Amino acid sequence: MAASAPGKLILFGEHAVVFGEPALSTAINLRAEVYARPHTEWLVDGASLEESRFRYVKAAVAKAKPDGPLWIEIRSMVPSGAGLGSSAAVTVATLGALHGLQGSIERDKRKWFVHRTALPPLDLVVGNTGIGAATGPLVAKVKDRVDRDPLAAEAIRQIGEITLDGVRALQRKDLVAAGKLMDRNHTILTDLGVGHPSLDRLVEAARPSSYGAKLTGAGGGGSIVALTDRPSVTAEAIRAAGGKAFIVQSDSLGVAKLG
Ligand code: PMV
Repeated sequence: MAASAPGKLILFGEHAVVFGEPALSTAINLRAEVYARPHTEWLVDGASLEESRFRYVKAAVAKAKPDGPLWIEIRSMVPSGAGLGSSAAVTVATLGALHGLQGSIERDKRKWFVHRTALPPLDLVVGNTGIGAATGPLVAKVKDRVDRDPLAAEAIRQIGEITLDGVRALQRKDLVAAGKLMDRNHTILTDLGVGHPSLDRLVEAARPSSYGAKLTGAGGGGSIVALTDRPSVTAEAIRAAGGKAFIVQSDSLGVAKLG
């Protein structure tokens, strides 16, 4: 039993999506693979399933309820702690391996509408600040602002518009327009209080060789994403500005069975 699942990047609309606005996320060509075989005891990468680093695997196992103990191996190309959804990729690949890709997942009481959109392959560079920031408190901070300040509520609505314009720009392969929209999305997110000087530094470093750049994911640290057709130049600029850089491509392949 084996399955793989991709890392992800949010190209437009983070935070606004929490208020029902659209967001655009893409799978990327960095994947996590999970292999599972019946065994005499539970082991993950030769260690105990109880280790805290395997809590996502344990949660996926609890959902899948396999018949007996398994030897699980994880091979992940998705760097962890870089805003690329490495934990989610491992979790989904584990569920894929154990479920044989069957079953459904419910998440809290909110209803999420997931649509597919065909985009051209995109060259993207992720710049990681190395500063960890938990998503929950940042989401709460934005909610607090939106509750108190009509301008913040208007900013959320604008991000929703930017997202739809961004989708249309990417669909017609207008990377110049898409890049400008990414830049605007970054400014609005920063005004909403989820920016960080190190994010601005990486965005500024990436822009001369990019169509546009913005923070990706929850912000407050974490990573930026730049849309570029000179990925190695952009990656070098990000490294020179003190960030870690990962060159990735958008990919349409989601969770998939291996073998
Ligand atoms: O921290 P990430 O990369 O998983 O992104 C969080 C995205 C938010 O819109 C801020 C929160 C959410 O649940 O959509």
